[in-house]
Amino acid sequence: MALVLGLAAPAFAKEAPAPKAPAAAKTAAEASQKCIDCHSEAEPGDKSAAGKSVLLDPAKHAKSLHGSGKAACVDCHADEGMRKYPHKSPKPAQCESCHAKAVKEYATTIHGMARAEGRMVAATCSDCHGTHDIKATSDDAAKTSRANLEATCGACHGNEKIIKEGKIPGGNVSALYHDSIHGRLLGGTTKAKDKVPVCTDCHGTHDMRPKRDPESAVSRANVPETCGTCHGKVKKVWAGSQHGKLRANNVLQAPGCTDCHGTHTIADPKTPKWQVGVIKECGGCHTEFIKTYRDTYHGQVTDLGFARMATCASCHGAHEVLPKSNPMSKVSEQRILATCQACHPKANANFVKFQPHANKHKKESGLILYYTTLFMQLLLAGVFAFFGLHTILWLYRSLAEMKAKRARPTRESEKH
Ligand code: HEC
Ligand code: HEC
Ligand code: HEC
Ligand code: HEC
Ligand code: HEC
Ligand code: HEC
Ligand code: HEC
Ligand code: HEC
Ligand code: HEC
Ligand code: HEC
Ligand code: HEC
Repeated sequence: MALVLGLAAPAFAKEAPAPKAPAAAKTAAEASQKCIDCHSEAEPGDKSAAGKSVLLDPAKHAKSLHGSGKAACVDCHADEGMRKYPHKSPKPAQCESCHAKAVKEYATTIHGMARAEGRMVAATCSDCHGTHDIKATSDDAAKTSRANLEATCGACHGNEKIIKEGKIPGGNVSALYHDSIHGRLLGGTTKAKDKVPVCTDCHGTHDMRPKRDPESAVSRANVPETCGTCHGKVKKVWAGSQHGKLRANNVLQAPGCTDCHGTHTIADPKTPKWQVGVIKECGGCHTEFIKTYRDTYHGQVTDLGFARMATCASCHGAHEVLPKSNPMSKVSEQRILATCQACHPKANANFVKFQPHANKHKKESGLILYYTTLFMQLLLAGVFAFFGLHTILWLYRSLAEMKAKRARPTRESEKH
């Protein structure tokens, strides 16, 4: 589970005589005192196999959660070899004797499974909790507190070198999260500071699964539930939409929250930049409808970034998307007038006959439009054909003239 402690021979006492091995201690507390005696005196140069100093500050340790009587050195460094000096084949510190549940849970997490497969770059207990400085999560100074989690996970998920060498999926998600609306509010001073999600609110802690696992809180199917724990109202509206209904029938192609909002990049949906950007997300799935939309005045102007113009969501709604046939749809016969009137206050029944998705190339979209388009295309083709022929004939004539010129002698040759 953790680092395998080194087997190095005593490196201290280079000048002083080597210390005597301690007599076997009867109680854990006694044994700890022996450890402390040595580890607070050892040569500052002495290092563990992992290259860390082996010195401890006994006063600091005594104040730590475990050091204040909850666990002696030998409870964690429980291997018999640690009670002797030189330490014989020291094994990693253990937590299981007291935290059997946490250890069992951890083994089922993405990090636990990765370590079991030999991917030692994945997080173990001490990466998230610390070693001799473990604090209860409720303590603001704990590595697992809301305030510090971003940095704790970021030690790996925000470290480019570790990400690259460890081939950690997703890249620098910490940096993305930091700039997202959630991350920014977390670092801010508003009330939302205490309510926005930190990494573990979405991913879980000792139940953290990879996204490919259907049980994962962030699997495609479970994302709306996870976001919905805080955004309950939005989730309810979405669940009643065509998209939500399809999801309830296990049609995973329909969009959940992150298809439109992103995950670690969630931005403020009220900004024009985002509202124009999300058209591409709708269009990524509704390819025909974005094409016809782009042909309209609304579509061409939003293409240039003008968001007061109608976007897909202005006419269809965002979380309440429904087919036209449903009277609750914003584009149903019953509601369309009101939908257009939100921006065109003078709109009447005639105005809403305008077809936002008129397909200029299909007859069903209206005969007038169809024949107008056809006429325009024929006219265009005719114009091209006429000028094309004109150009060819012109070219033919100039070639013939050039040929004739070459055949004639030049003025120079005339002089000689
Ligand atoms: C006689 C002095 C002495 C005593 C007593 C002693 N240690 Fe050590 N310990 C050392 C020295 C020196 C090192 C560094 C070199 C080495 O690993 O042997 C060390 C290394 C360690 C390491 C790091 C091993 C690694 O390489 O990762 C741990 C953990 C440790 N000791 C725990 C304990 C515990 C727990 C006790 C009490 C049961 C204890 N020590 C008692 C001197 C001592
Ligand atoms: C809550 C469990 C726990 C207790 C109690 C504990 N340690 Fe450790 N210690 C660890 C962990 C975890 C590591 C990291 C390496 C590993 O996993 O074995 C570690 C590492 C060490 C190291 C190697 C240097 C380092 O910092 O990585 C030394 C030396 C050490 N411990 C000595 C002690 C001594 C002496 C005591 C008692 C005063 C003690 N430990 C109490 C969990 C504990
Ligand atoms: C990826 C980071 C991570 C790893 C790895 C991890 N934990 Fe935790 N652990 C947390 C967080 C975050 C919390 C706070 C959970 C909460 O408040 O819901 C926590 C809570 C705990 C708690 C208190 C709550 C409980 O479940 O009893 C204990 C004890 C604990 N962890 C022990 C361990 C042990 C032992 C290991 C290794 C087997 C471990 N943790 C591995 C992040 C981690
Ligand atoms: C000898 C038993 C013992 C061992 C071994 C032990 N712990 Fe603990 N640990 C405790 C006790 C007791 C508490 C305090 C529980 C409480 O106050 O509810 C505690 C608390 C914790 C907490 C704080 C839980 C919270 O309330 O947020 C964490 C995290 C934790 N331990 C992690 C570890 C890790 C990691 C290891 C192994 C490196 C470890 N412990 C080894 C007994 C132990
Ligand atoms: C608002 C919820 C949320 C928060 C907060 C969050 N994540 Fe995620 N994370 C997700 C979702 C949802 C996915 C799955 C994305 C997907 O399906 O592509 C994910 C995927 C991941 C992945 C896998 C990436 C991949 O492409 O395989 C990692 C690693 C990850 N998150 C780490 C983190 C870390 C570290 C933090 C904190 C800095 C964090 N996440 C914060 C929701 C969140
Ligand atoms: C010590 C480094 C380290 C730390 C700290 C760490 N992780 Fe990871 N994490 C990894 C590695 C490595 C993987 C890739 C595991 C694999 O699949 O091989 C991983 C995978 C993940 C995944 C799964 C991505 C997927 O495939 O869907 C998530 C989610 C994740 N970590 C979230 C977190 C969160 C949240 C924290 C903080 C509580 C955290 N990690 C802390 C190293 C770390
Ligand atoms: C732990 C609770 C929590 C979780 C989980 C959560 N959020 Fe949030 N989110 C918030 C809070 C708090 C805000 C700040 C604005 C507010 O108070 O509504 C916010 C803001 C937002 C905003 C900006 C809204 C605005 O009015 O500016 C969007 C969009 C958003 N979240 C989407 C998501 C998505 C998508 C997910 C899931 C991947 C998610 N959230 C998960 C709590 C959460
Ligand atoms: C089909 C795309 C789409 C899906 C799916 C979607 N959203 Fe939205 N969301 C939007 C758009 C567009 C807006 C901006 C609406 C506006 O301008 O009022 C928005 C706005 C928001 C807001 C802020 C304003 C508000 O209405 O409170 C939150 C929070 C939010 N979405 C969360 C979610 C959550 C949680 C889910 C999943 C249950 C989700 N969204 C699913 C497109 C989507
Ligand atoms: C991840 C893909 C995806 C995204 C993103 C998406 N949709 Fe959909 N949408 C679907 C699927 C699948 C259906 C069901 C289509 C069907 O039944 O033919 C659907 C149905 C609809 C319907 C009802 C039409 C019908 O035939 O039932 C409307 C209207 C709609 N979407 C509008 C939008 C809007 C507006 C957005 C952006 C704010 C959007 N969609 C984003 C996949 C998506
Ligand atoms: C100006 C308002 C408006 C805009 C902007 C708009 N639509 Fe529509 N949309 C409508 C109306 C009205 C209908 C129903 C009549 C029709 O099919 O032409 C419709 C029909 C649809 C349908 C089929 C619904 C059904 O029940 O069959 C889908 C899917 C759709 N739109 C998606 C989109 C997408 C994606 C965008 C953005 C790229 C978009 N719409 C932009 C007004 C709009
Ligand atoms: C979010 C606001 C918004 C919504 C909703 C909206 N439009 Fe528009 N539309 C505009 C703006 C802004 C213009 C350009 C300024 C203008 O001409 O009024 C425009 C221009 C137009 C034009 C071309 C300009 C012209 O006058 O010839 C038509 C046609 C049109 N809209 C029809 C509709 C119809 C039909 C609906 C309802 C299905 C609708 N719009 C919904 C904002 C909107």
